[in-house]
Amino acid sequence: MGTVLSEKSMLNQRRRFLINATVSLGALGVGGLSVPFISSMNPSMGARTAGAPVQVDTSRLQPGEQITVLWRGKPVWVLRRTPDNIRNLKEENLRRSLRDPDSSVSTQQPDYASNELRSIRSEYLVVISLCTHLGCIPTYRPELAPDDLGPEWPGGYFCPCHGSRFDLAGRVYKRVPAPTNLVVPPYQFLADTLIEIGTSKET
Ligand code: FES
Repeated sequence: MGTVLSEKSMLNQRRRFLINATVSLGALGVGGLSVPFISSMNPSMGARTAGAPVQVDTSRLQPGEQITVLWRGKPVWVLRRTPDNIRNLKEENLRRSLRDPDSSVSTQQPDYASNELRSIRSEYLVVISLCTHLGCIPTYRPELAPDDLGPEWPGGYFCPCHGSRFDLAGRVYKRVPAPTNLVVPPYQFLADTLIEIGTSKET
């Protein structure tokens, strides 16, 4: 009986997380994704707690939208970047304002994501959504030059806890508390619109 109650509690926690993630997307105007859609991309609770890989179907993800899934108990964003996003990430002005623009800190991503866009395919960013300062979840802020982030803001992630900033490749800005880029987990494409988080092609 104790196990049953524990599983119910965990399922409720998961449900609350997914609802919060969806509300967050909707509030930013990048959502339109339903709870069942996000839920359908997750494996069973038992598999996830065991650290199993998570498969993400991106076929309904529009440019500029991101979804959140859980992998090994951590939230992971899958962002489908727009052509403008990708162009902005290569701007020299942005690169100069970043601490590690070329992903040289090897602990923060697999080798195949040690590049400017920190990804296997430029269109998709897959990144653990925990700030590398003290672990808060940053906010997705894709808009250009909003009043609170300044005229140079090209879209990115803002951590509300202590103000760290990351671009849409998860690269950290200079002069913020977070020391390193966001972590890219191991992942691979099983098909054009199917990503598996937790495995790499070479494993
Ligand atoms: S936890 Fe993000 S800035 Fe401190």
